Amino acid sequence: MDALAGFPDRFEVGVSTAAYQIEGAVTEDGRGPSVWDTFAHTPGRVKNGDTGDVACDHYHRWPEDVALMADLGVDAYRFSISWPRVQPTGSGALNTPGLDFYDRLVDALLQRGIAPLPTLFHWDLPQALEDEGGWLSRATAERFAEYAGHVADRLGDRVRRWITLNEPVVHMAEGHAWGGGAPGHSLMFGALPVAHHQLLGHGLAARVLRERGATQVMITNNCTPVLPASDDEADVMAAAMYDSFHNRLFNDPILLGAYPEMLASFLGDLVQEGDLEIIHAPLDALGINYYNPTRIAAAAPDADLPFDPQPIEGVPITAFGWPVVPGGLRDLLVGLKDTYGEALPPIYITENGCSTADGTDDAFRIDYLRGHLDALKSAIDAGVDVRGYFIWSLMDNFEWSEGYSQRFGLVRVDFETQERTPKDSFRWLRTALAARKPA
Ligand code: FCB
Repeated sequence: MDALAGFPDRFEVGVSTAAYQIEGAVTEDGRGPSVWDTFAHTPGRVKNGDTGDVACDHYHRWPEDVALMADLGVDAYRFSISWPRVQPTGSGALNTPGLDFYDRLVDALLQRGIAPLPTLFHWDLPQALEDEGGWLSRATAERFAEYAGHVADRLGDRVRRWITLNEPVVHMAEGHAWGGGAPGHSLMFGALPVAHHQLLGHGLAARVLRERGATQVMITNNCTPVLPASDDEADVMAAAMYDSFHNRLFNDPILLGAYPEMLASFLGDLVQEGDLEIIHAPLDALGINYYNPTRIAAAAPDADLPFDPQPIEGVPITAFGWPVVPGGLRDLLVGLKDTYGEALPPIYITENGCSTADGTDDAFRIDYLRGHLDALKSAIDAGVDVRGYFIWSLMDNFEWSEGYSQRFGLVRVDFETQERTPKDSFRWLRTALAARKPA
């Protein structure tokens, strides 16, 4: 029960969710359609034809979900705001009932002593903006900053910390390069504008949020330590390329004000004068989502992409088939400190967790979390400034193209009845959180 012992004072422990994965109520109270509504309703895109139409019905059941978090005893809750719920077409008119929903949620969290940490974009772009080019279009960055301002106008008296974007790399790669997520484009390297426009959107929004009194602006990047499949020069080169594509493309411009050399030429004249200064604006903290390392080999000469992901063998795997390598979290964090030095701001782990077989006996998850907390502690001992740890996820939810087949929750959700049942890991974490506090 000492999983949370030995962390710095005021180290924050929380849980994470995202709007499309839990809210449901997709046509209620004036919400507009998002790219994920369109994608999930396109036959063949999501496993078993699942959609987020109902998801965890959190839009109606949020008081119960807040009560669960209060019972768990977390310090903070990371959730995302659905842009099409707040601004149905992504520009112009706001939808007051949508803003009211988040207003009530924030108040309820604060009343329970749970710090709200909203993410402004977790992949559910208003479909109307997608129809005008989506993140392939530079204009979307400006619309995003306007939307961020509207949300801050409404919540900024109580919320002073914000995450702009969730995992821009995954939205670029899954959504626009290989097409496994919404909006479902398969543009390969043609997806790179989506990286630049999201980063520009982050920088513009950060400015707007600060003007409205934000004291902590972050972005959440998905980062993975990249392991070459062998010492072979071709594999080492391919691994470096993958590292540039997955990690450095998003960390370098934000922390150093420049794109990684290996990719700069692909971005060409997309990058206008002044863009990098906007993107490189001071960041109060960096959010990192960590799930596993990635092993990379060189691809066949005629392949679409120059890298070829390989399985990692000899380690446990989650229900999703993802390798469990807790030490990768330490290596990642120490590696970031080595790479960015003084330019690295404090870090929050904004997602970490695993999917397990359905049920409430999830000893696998307890081991997973314990292992990753240990790795985190050793990164902190090695001098990395980590301020918080958020578990993905509070409850089982709509896992994107996997639908309801992957269960990441501390709380089981019965998707027929919407009954919530805490799993063993929930009770384990509750005990660890309670033990952390002075008697
Ligand atoms: C991350 C996403 C999150 C969730 C987890 C499992 O990439 O940010 O929404 O689906 O994976």
